[in-house]
Parts: sequence; C-alpha cells; structure tokens
Amino acid sequence: MKKDLLSFKDWTRSELEALLTLAMQIKAHPHAYRSALDGLSVVALFEKPSLRTRVSFDIGIHKLGGHMVYLDSQSNKLVGREDTKDMGANLACWADAIVARVFAHSTLETLASAAKVPVINALCDRYHPCQALADFLTIRERYADLSKVKLAYLGDGNNVTHSLMLVGVALGCEVIVVSPKGYEVDQEIVALSKQRAAQFGGKLTLSHDPNAAIGAHVLYTDTWISMGDSTPLEQIKDTFAAYAINENLMSRTGADYVMHCQPAHRDLEISGALIDSDKSLLMQQAENRMHGQNAILVSLLAKNFKAQL
Ligand code: CP
Ligand code: NVA
Repeated sequence: MKKDLLSFKDWTRSELEALLTLAMQIKAHPHAYRSALDGLSVVALFEKPSLRTRVSFDIGIHKLGGHMVYLDSQSNKLVGREDTKDMGANLACWADAIVARVFAHSTLETLASAAKVPVINALCDRYHPCQALADFLTIRERYADLSKVKLAYLGDGNNVTHSLMLVGVALGCEVIVVSPKGYEVDQEIVALSKQRAAQFGGKLTLSHDPNAAIGAHVLYTDTWISMGDSTPLEQIKDTFAAYAINENLMSRTGADYVMHCQPAHRDLEISGALIDSDKSLLMQQAENRMHGQNAILVSLLAKNFKAQL
C-alpha cells in the first residue's frame, strides 16, 4: 500500500529517528544512493513560488537517479482547468510520486486520495514537513541528544511552526512558541503536539512574551506574512517588532544558534548581520532540505533499496 507524507502528525519517535538516520546516511554516502530512484519519475506541482523546495527536490531526485517534472501551476493556469481529483489520477498514470506545494491542505488530501502513488507535501497552509525534517537534521548535527535541546520559535504561528511542533516534541525536544496575540498557532495542532509530547517525551510551551525564549539553545523565526496572505507589512510591523531575532535577543536568551526556513527578510524578522554570522544555521538548513527530502523519497519509493556503502 502506498504511503503519503502530508504531515508528520502520525509519525512515531522511532519512525522520525529512522528517517533522520537515513538522511544522515544519504548525506554522508551520496554515491551509495545514486541509483535508488533508478527509472522513477516524480511530478512536482507548485501553486506558489519556491526557490529551496523546487531546486532541492529537482537536484536531489537527480542525485538518486530519478527524474523530476516541474509543473508551475501559477503560469500554466492548472488550477481550475480540471478537478484536482482528475489531475491527481492523471499524474499518477505516469509519475511514481507527486510532490505538491499548495494553498489549502485539502488540495493535498484530494490529490492523495485520487492518486495511486505517494503524495509529498512541499508546503501548504497548515504544514511544511520537509522543512521540519531538514531543521531537526540540522539541530541533530549540532546537538547529539535532541532530548536536551530547547528550541524557541518567535513570530507568526504558521505552517512552519506547526511542523516544528509536531516533529520537535516527538523527537524529545522542548519547543517554545512565542507569538504576538492574534497570531498564535492552531489550537488543534497544539492539542495534538501536547499529546505527542506526553507520548514521546518532549515538551511544548506557548507564550506571548519573548522572554520565554531565555535559556533556549536555538532561536527560530519565519516571515511575518506567509505566501497567500495579502496583509500589508505596515499593518503588522509594529506588532511583530518585539519578536524579531537580533543580536540583543541572542544575548538576552543566551542562544547558541539562529535558524530561519527562508526566504528571510533581513532586518525585519531577523537581523541581516545574524544571518551572516557564525551563529547562523540558515545555509545548513537549506542544504539539509535536499538530504531530508531524499530520505523521504527513498523511504516512500525505494524502501527495499540496498545501499552499497
Ligand atoms: N523554505 C522554503 O520552503 O523555501 P522556498 O519557499 O524557497 O521553497
Ligand atoms: N510560512 C512561509 C514559509 C515559506 C517557506 C510561507 O508559507 O510563506
């Protein structure tokens, strides 16, 4: 039976750890995996712009011996031309997997139920699982024991935050989410994350006060306005200013590192100097997008592949 990756919300701690181990193995021994997707084709369908996700999937699939077809829904007007259900069923006639970046999570669910091949979420309104996997791979490379790590996210409670919560607490981390009033994370995902924390050993703390990040090892932020949200920056800038990650917050919290999924807005949610500093993990995160996604592809499409290490 095919397995989709729409979110990590039902992945156990040991399944996530196994995926991280595979990602580290692929990163360390890329040649051993260069035929893992031999003869397989992946369609990547994007309703929104992308730099990192698009390029890391394309190059990553090539490195595994597979082939990617990019479908740009924005310029090709694919959305609305036919039912998503029909699009999914047609794509599955040729492709061995569908990677999709969409506005609504329900579009992914429709694609997944119509397509007989795995569907991988490349970002939707609720989740960004590929990002969270790369992020915890990055943190794992800095801290051997994830159960001793405190990660503080500051800013808009969004798709990236949701995935960090769901994955982080299951890996045993303490995840602290600090958002302005009115920009909190989804309550249903909070409840699920707390349940996962109790089951797998992590902890979730929510706050409106940036001081809640004091003592965190890593500070993380994302854009204050996500793709598809037409709120003018001027309208929210003052509300979010106290949540910006800058040198002052780094020294107040005592954090070792700063993270951002990117695209970043220099001197808004994060200071430009921090991005360029030795406390920045941003490029390591970006590189790890490819290794994490390749682990996802191998585990969904080539589970029985035997790497020649
Ligand atoms: N982090 C991320 O998903 O970047 P892109 O939007 O450029 O793909
Ligand atoms: N929260 C951002 C993430 C971009 C990678 C967005 O949805 O636009």
